[in-house]
Amino acid sequence: MVARKLALCLFPAWALGQSNVKWITVEDGPAPSFSLASTSISYQFHVDPWTLDLIHDHWGGYAAETVPQDPGNLSGWGGQYTYRLREFPDSGRGDFRTPAIHIQHASGDTVSAFAYTGYEVKAGKPGLPGLPATYGDEEEVSTLIVHLYDEYSAISADLYYSIFPEHNAIARSFRLTNKGNSTATVLRASSWSIDTPNEELDLIDLRGDWANEAHINRRSVGYGEQGFRSTAGYSSAFHNPFFALAPPSTTESQGPATGYSLIYTGSFAANIERWSTGWVRVLLGLNPLHLSWPLKPDDTFTSPEVVSTYSEKGFSGMSQSLHSLFKHQLSRSNYTFKTRPPLLNSWEGLGFDFNHSSMVELAQGAADLGCTLFVNDDGWFGTDYPRDNDTLGLGDWTPQKKKFPEGLGPYVDDVNAITVANSSSKLSFGLWVEPEMVNPESDLYVAHPDWVLHAGPHNRTLVRNQLVLNLGLPEVQDYIINTIEKILDSANIDYIKWDNNRGQHELSSPAANHAYILGMYRVIDNLTTTHPEILWEGCASGGGRFDAGLLHYWPQSWTSDNTDGLDRLQIQFGTSYAYPPSAMGCHVSAVPNGQVGRITPLAFRSAVASMCGSYGLELDPKHLTQEELDVIPGLISLQQEINPFVINGDFYRLALPDQSNWPAAMFALPDASAGVLFVFQVRYGTKPLPQPVKLKGLDADAKYKLTGDAYETTLSGSTLMNTGLSLAWPHADYQSIILKLERL
Ligand SMILES: *[C@@H]1O[C@H](CO)[C@@H](O)[C@H](O)[C@H]1NC(C)=O
Ligand SMILES: *[C@@H]1O[C@H](CO)[C@@H](O)[C@H](O)[C@H]1NC(C)=O
Ligand SMILES: *[C@@H]1O[C@H](CO)[C@@H](O)[C@H](O)[C@H]1NC(C)=O
Ligand SMILES: *[C@@H]1O[C@H](CO)[C@@H](O)[C@H](O)[C@H]1NC(C)=O
Ligand SMILES: *[C@@H]1O[C@H](CO)[C@@H](O)[C@H](O)[C@H]1NC(C)=O
Ligand SMILES: *[C@@H]1O[C@H](CO)[C@@H](O)[C@H](O)[C@H]1NC(C)=O
Ligand SMILES: *[C@@H]1O[C@H](CO)[C@@H](O)[C@H](O)[C@H]1NC(C)=O
Ligand SMILES: *[C@@H]1O[C@H](CO)[C@@H](O)[C@H](O)[C@H]1NC(C)=O
Repeated sequence: MVARKLALCLFPAWALGQSNVKWITVEDGPAPSFSLASTSISYQFHVDPWTLDLIHDHWGGYAAETVPQDPGNLSGWGGQYTYRLREFPDSGRGDFRTPAIHIQHASGDTVSAFAYTGYEVKAGKPGLPGLPATYGDEEEVSTLIVHLYDEYSAISADLYYSIFPEHNAIARSFRLTNKGNSTATVLRASSWSIDTPNEELDLIDLRGDWANEAHINRRSVGYGEQGFRSTAGYSSAFHNPFFALAPPSTTESQGPATGYSLIYTGSFAANIERWSTGWVRVLLGLNPLHLSWPLKPDDTFTSPEVVSTYSEKGFSGMSQSLHSLFKHQLSRSNYTFKTRPPLLNSWEGLGFDFNHSSMVELAQGAADLGCTLFVNDDGWFGTDYPRDNDTLGLGDWTPQKKKFPEGLGPYVDDVNAITVANSSSKLSFGLWVEPEMVNPESDLYVAHPDWVLHAGPHNRTLVRNQLVLNLGLPEVQDYIINTIEKILDSANIDYIKWDNNRGQHELSSPAANHAYILGMYRVIDNLTTTHPEILWEGCASGGGRFDAGLLHYWPQSWTSDNTDGLDRLQIQFGTSYAYPPSAMGCHVSAVPNGQVGRITPLAFRSAVASMCGSYGLELDPKHLTQEELDVIPGLISLQQEINPFVINGDFYRLALPDQSNWPAAMFALPDASAGVLFVFQVRYGTKPLPQPVKLKGLDADAKYKLTGDAYETTLSGSTLMNTGLSLAWPHADYQSIILKLERL
């Protein structure tokens, strides 16, 4: 091996001193060592002086020194790069593992040779052009930028590392710039890549499908490659762009765990690869099947961001760090820390069959029960192709004459004139849209058949009778922006539910998916910037786009089309691995449940939905019994009482629905002054008896008053956390107990 000449001339003068930015330490020299650290986490890597490659040293709990974890001169049948713990593995020089970066050059070869040239440190964090990302000021985050250059292809890579000490989090992304004269193609781009030493590890991810989202999937990381991806064009309900890595001994509340989340809504891939050495390569980023991104001379390609959090307090600790990072440093909505209005959505009650007067009647029913927001779902639009079923009208966002002869404005005025029961407030109004889609039977498709995603002569496959508009086209982006603006101008609208009901099939090129996602972010960024007063809710046939990318713009997302109380426990606990319950939209619907046919008590369904930031009813009050009508106002007022804890509290999973007949969770305010406990009994049985519920996040020395569900007691935090509560349950299935906690 010939030592590469150190490109000392490329070192900027300011890089030769010690870093003067908080939480980042650089041991300077021609081959520096970098450390991003708080009192509880450390992220460390260094430059190999011989190859100028970046070598990963550590990511996890705080470590005072940097100690390289590979021997540096291991030999074997692989190339030298195969036997290094790498930080930004490129391809073609004898590293036989899956690379983070794979670029095809104009010559046709795919060899890259990125070498260190310098670094910068910055207080705060620069934004990612065109992409959602975490943000923060100088007190919250610091950023290290490491510069690499491949002299053979004239492509530079700038690696961005940010540390958020308050949230035990590291954010990573990179930028490629083509400084050469010919177009290269980026085939693979993993925003996050590290090689960890040989340790026993479990991979935990969220798998599922439509109406069956967010199953916790835990397996041990064996030799070879394991992972998952979405090629659906969206993050998808099949696999969420999130995973955790932890030793087999880690539990909900104990042991180290790292969580990884890709802040992106398009196709993605996660690859975890254990190599001959036992080392584990961890990659998360774009899906190579949907990339092949052309990088023209002078163009820059920015990878989406991955955030990783570390906790030594098990998966609950890992999730809490992700939740606090997402709420404080990712979400831009000013609803993030606000309680959300209880709503009634028309879909399961009326479907497509409604008009001005029947909708106003439904709205009156909502207000009588105590809802403060009424949402008109699908079916309100279409002129030449009236949207009376799902075969037609998508794309034509003008109110249907037959249903709303006076238009949206007067209709919404009638809804707004309704007084919410026992209050002086008026009902507010929300509307459903699915602006990224079109039915072939629509004025829009007739006028612009080329506006949809398609691939030459291939059939344009229909799903739910619809095609996907190509949001990579600026004219489509502008059409959607103008259409939504027109709707918002036409009536007094406070909430928008933005749906998306199919995946992407025929693409004109693999790059069309990323181009689409960038266009979609442009549209959503534009509309949410212009309309911060609107409460935006994302939806994609349920949890098909429950991802950190959209949480940047929208404060909440519909969690699943499956509203069955029992299934929802699993779906919501699973979703909470990555995302804060305050961002979940959850509704109470009628029984037997429309998706699974199960009958559960109203109080159980309501308690499950009350664990989410946004609560609603999805039913027609006309079809409720008098008993149900009498009970619902109390359920809504209880939900409203505890909503501030759901929005602002730290979330603890106390018992998982996969593992216990008595699933339990609680929210505690960060100062431990108050909280709320949810406990469920799935089935009644004579034996065994329920486990005591051991609370978390309380002040051990303080006394707490517990109230709710005919329960009232005062106990100290130590007793609640160490002895726990033994609750008495009715002899019945699907029971729930909600207890409020208040420090005395
Ligand atoms: C390289 O390998 C030899 C023998 O295995 C060992 O003694 C030496 O310390 C290793 N490390 C370096 C950096 O040379
Ligand atoms: C690009 O082309 C210019 C003009 O032909 C030449 O001077 C330069 O060296 C080329 N750059 C690279 C990286 O090939
Ligand atoms: C509105 O719909 C209701 C219920 O389907 C129907 O009874 C009523 O006649 C309709 N009103 C108009 C104006 O079409
Ligand atoms: C309104 O008050 C009445 C009388 O107290 C009560 O029965 C009813 O449930 C309340 N409705 C709502 C929506 O709070
Ligand atoms: C859908 O609605 C349109 C317009 O009202 C109607 O012509 C068509 O027959 C309906 N199709 C189905 C499958 O119900
Ligand atoms: C494409 O669509 C046409 C018309 O619907 C159909 O006859 C044909 O079988 C389809 N081709 C494929 C490959 O699915
Ligand atoms: C939104 O897009 C419209 C149309 O392209 C443009 O005129 C407007 O300036 C944009 N607004 C923002 C806030 O980006
Ligand atoms: C959100 O912020 C905007 C301005 O940034 C303001 O006009 C709007 O009223 C705010 N909405 C809420 C609910 O605070």
